[in-house]
Amino acid sequence: MQYAVVTGASRGLGEAIARQFILKSVNVVAVSRSGNEELKALADEKGVSFHHVSCDLSDLDDLNEGLNQMIDLVLHKDTHYVYLVNNAGVIEPIQTVGQLEAEAVQKHMQVNVTAPILTVNRFIKEANERDISLGIINITSGAAEKTIHGWSTYSSSKAAINRFTQTLALEQEGKDHTIFAYSPGVIDTDMQGEIRSSSEDAFADVGKFRKLKEEGELRSPEEVAGVLMNLLEKPDKIENGQVYKLYDLIGK
Ligand SMILES: NC(=O)c1ccc[n+]([C@@H]2O[C@H](COP(=O)([O-])OP(=O)(O)OC[C@H]3O[C@@H](n4cnc5c(N)ncnc54)[C@H](OP(=O)(O)O)[C@@H]3O)[C@@H](O)[C@H]2O)c1
Repeated sequence: MQYAVVTGASRGLGEAIARQFILKSVNVVAVSRSGNEELKALADEKGVSFHHVSCDLSDLDDLNEGLNQMIDLVLHKDTHYVYLVNNAGVIEPIQTVGQLEAEAVQKHMQVNVTAPILTVNRFIKEANERDISLGIINITSGAAEKTIHGWSTYSSSKAAINRFTQTLALEQEGKDHTIFAYSPGVIDTDMQGEIRSSSEDAFADVGKFRKLKEEGELRSPEEVAGVLMNLLEKPDKIENGQVYKLYDLIGK
């Protein structure tokens, strides 16, 4: 049996990734604070199992409890492959250094860095003990490699995820896991709405992002998830530890 654990599958890119796994008859475990009835209904229609693990990834106790549930749901004797998509992410705080609030920074780092690291840590341990192969996809951002006014926290958290992915790939060399990061470009999701609602003081380039929306330059979550699915269908072309960028994959 194949499973896909997708964090942040209640909306946005994660929802589209979960939907496409269901359409490929992969059983899905969706992890987020809120549920998604449409995904559940689609899974029922396709005869695929769908579970929602309700979990606030910014809370360590909740994460540990959620991880126990994820492991129980997907790692059992009939399992031969598990995709783990660390997609849940936050952009806030969008703010210049000097104006950052401690709680917002701590929550950001917990969701964007600590939770994916600890999730992979647990899955690698349990999967290696059972000889089950994993496909680990960490969702990153072009911001990891750019210096953007007002985005110090987000750029730092995504840079950390890229380095984590590379280190994990090095350590797991010789094992039958697929490990990479996926940089999805700009997508028409709630996160982009949060970006556009920033002030120019907090984020100097906010105008550029408002223009992207006005000019229809944001891609749909379905298209972006589809590019990831195409990549997953060519495992021989995947080099572990790499950051795959949507723009390179589609040649634009
Ligand atoms: N949108 C873009 O242009 C863009 C560009 C580059 C990279 N990305 C990356 O793509 C990924 C998905 O982004 P998106 O645009 O789809 O974002 P989104 O629409 O804001 O959705 C974020 C998802 O993360 C979950 N999440 C947030 N905080 C959480 C928490 N504390 N605990 C559990 N789940 C939490 C949300 O679920 P609940 O609220 O239900 O918990 C939701 O499902 C992120 O890693 C983001 O950094 C996005």
